[in-house]
Amino acid sequence: MTAAESIRLSLNMITSLDGAISYHNRGSNLSCDVDRDRMHRLRRDADLVIVGSRTATSGRYWRDDFLRRHNAAGLPRIGVVSTSRWIAGEDVPHTLITTTTNVDANAELVIKAGGAIVDWPTALARMQELGYRNVLLEGGPTTLSGVASAVPINDLHLTIAPYLIGGKAERVICTHREDLSRYRLLNHQQVDDYIFLDFTRKSSCPTPS
Ligand SMILES: NC(=O)c1ccc[n+]([C@@H]2O[C@H](COP(=O)([O-])OP(=O)(O)OC[C@H]3O[C@@H](n4cnc5c(N)ncnc54)[C@H](OP(=O)(O)O)[C@@H]3O)[C@@H](O)[C@H]2O)c1
Repeated sequence: MTAAESIRLSLNMITSLDGAISYHNRGSNLSCDVDRDRMHRLRRDADLVIVGSRTATSGRYWRDDFLRRHNAAGLPRIGVVSTSRWIAGEDVPHTLITTTTNVDANAELVIKAGGAIVDWPTALARMQELGYRNVLLEGGPTTLSGVASAVPINDLHLTIAPYLIGGKAERVICTHREDLSRYRLLNHQQVDDYIFLDFTRKSSCPTPS
């Protein structure tokens, strides 16, 4: 069994009605209290929460009281993906997921995989050695695009926010995918005008001709 098969990879993201993942460069601008509660529930079930360095610096990550309390309790760690030395604010213990060539890597725990950019199958193998079984991906699109082109994502937790954004905001995953991954809807819930969806991966479908 490969690391990608033994680790359950989940993704949690919010989009507008027209698929935008941010408003004024912040995904959190689309969110609501119920969505934040759901995010915290999903985090509680994870061994590691992975975010790209741009999300970690653009969002509320290190100002999030819940996260600090949760980190102080030990789990889950936040894994920041970056090619450079990443300095967390406010002394939040974190994991740095980086390349083998990053000599400046400095964090409580450093996972090194890949030369120019992080190689996800190798990084997941390291996480498997560390005993991780549930890894939650929280974006952004650059990070998710890299993960999704290397390994299958098992579960998708998507929130649809009741906004039309327009413009050129990114989607959850930006890179072109040859295979059509099919997902099965497990749960759907409406709270106010927000829709909360849980999908699990069904199979890979043949590319349409
Ligand atoms: N709607 C939502 O649910 C949601 C969720 C999360 C984020 N967002 C939004 O998404 C935006 C940020 O997303 P983004 O796509 O611009 O950035 P991102 O994915 O958060 O971060 C990109 C950075 O992560 C590092 N990285 C990613 N993949 C890597 C790899 N394979 N190897 C090495 N480093 C890697 C690089 O950091 P270095 O440059 O440091 O090397 C890269 O510049 C923000 O506007 C945020 O609010 C929305």
